[in-house]
Amino acid sequence: ETGMFTYDPGFTSTASCDSAITYIDGDNGILMHRGYRIEDLAEHCDFMDVCHLLLNGDLPDVPQKKQFEHDITYHTMLHEQMIYFFRGFRRDSHPMAVMVGVVGALSAFYHDSTDITDPHQRMVASHRMLAKMPTIAAMAYKYSVGQPFVYPRNDLNYAENFLNMTFSVPAEEYKISPTLARAMDRIFILHADHEQNASTSTVRIAGSSGANPFACVASGIASLWGPAHGGANEAVLRMLQEIGSKDRIPEFIERAKDKNDPFRLMGFGHRVYKNYDPRAKVMQKSCHEVLDELGIRKDEPLLDLAMELERIALEDDFFVDKKLFPNVDFYSGIILKAMGFPTSMFTALFAVARTVGWIAQWNEMVEDPNHRISRPRQLYQGNTGRELPESYKTN
Ligand code: SDX
Repeated sequence: ETGMFTYDPGFTSTASCDSAITYIDGDNGILMHRGYRIEDLAEHCDFMDVCHLLLNGDLPDVPQKKQFEHDITYHTMLHEQMIYFFRGFRRDSHPMAVMVGVVGALSAFYHDSTDITDPHQRMVASHRMLAKMPTIAAMAYKYSVGQPFVYPRNDLNYAENFLNMTFSVPAEEYKISPTLARAMDRIFILHADHEQNASTSTVRIAGSSGANPFACVASGIASLWGPAHGGANEAVLRMLQEIGSKDRIPEFIERAKDKNDPFRLMGFGHRVYKNYDPRAKVMQKSCHEVLDELGIRKDEPLLDLAMELERIALEDDFFVDKKLFPNVDFYSGIILKAMGFPTSMFTALFAVARTVGWIAQWNEMVEDPNHRISRPRQLYQGNTGRELPESYKTN
């Protein structure tokens, strides 16, 4: 009864795409943005440099950086009426649910930057998205903890502004530590773009139909939310807290190896990297800096537990043979927890950082005069040529 169609290998799938933004060599653990290695960008640049690089193709010179930072800074406020969107959510809503809703609604307020055929409107939409995401994420957090929203400040840089909007309260200004602000900025850099991952592909597919950039980014947020993708940082912390102590690591390693056990080592493995994710190395180094700066290194057992889990896993043939190494999510949650973020905000932070990648990839696709609507191929496995039962034929 089940007809099997033969797959026509000649049909070119629309599931792949050309891009000049990010290059990954999964076997050798290499990640580059516009030809610059992620380790160099994380060490010597700030997030605004990397945003300019991803969006415009090169690192900015001094005047370009000044102009770019001004353009982003002066778009950080949200239309005041959008505050009422937040009030429609339950206080205990997951920040990602709030961000999907609020970002999707941006096109209702900023419809003067939704004509994707107009390069100027595309640039304005890109700057607005980049500028407003930290404000929206911080507002989602404030709403969840019942604190008043804190407005962006033009005297702070991107990372400082986000920390201030998140942690300041009217009764007490948040004291911005340069080390923490630098760590936040570096986390944004490490999450900025990653070639055609699930959420970026979602943004591209949504954009290929001509949908406005705000709606496309909202679709990317929805895809990123999943625990196999951007939700893994939250899942890593829950996993480490479940393991609890080093002596229980072998038990969980065995569970991760057991095909019949749904437990997976979260923060391990990757669709592309079959070597160490270069972002994880930078993240681990940042972990030590942040915990030392906060003076909680000795009180934060999760980092020691994570490093011991990594050590034991990478000595086990199962993980080595399957080329399962730590990925970007394995250490990020430990830093974010130490900085004071609740686990529910981890993926929201990932979305803030990845917005520039989504927007850069969306622009690259829309600017290509030959781009067409995406239409991924399927292999039909269902029934064919069935006759209706007689009982239906009397109707
Ligand atoms: C991100 O695509 C991107 O670029 C994503 C991302 C980005 O920046 O956008 O890098 C961000 O999403 C990082 C990944 C975060 N997710 C996790 O850490 C969740 C845990 N990881 C797994 O769910 C898994 O590794 C995936 C989802 C990341 C990859 O899925 P695959 O491609 O199915 O896994 P694989 O090819 O790496 O797996 C090979 C084998 C499989 O077993 P077999 O079918 O060969 O018997 O290893 C197994 C998997 O079942 N496996 C694991 C495992 N990950 C894969 N076994 C135990 N623990 C794990 N973590």
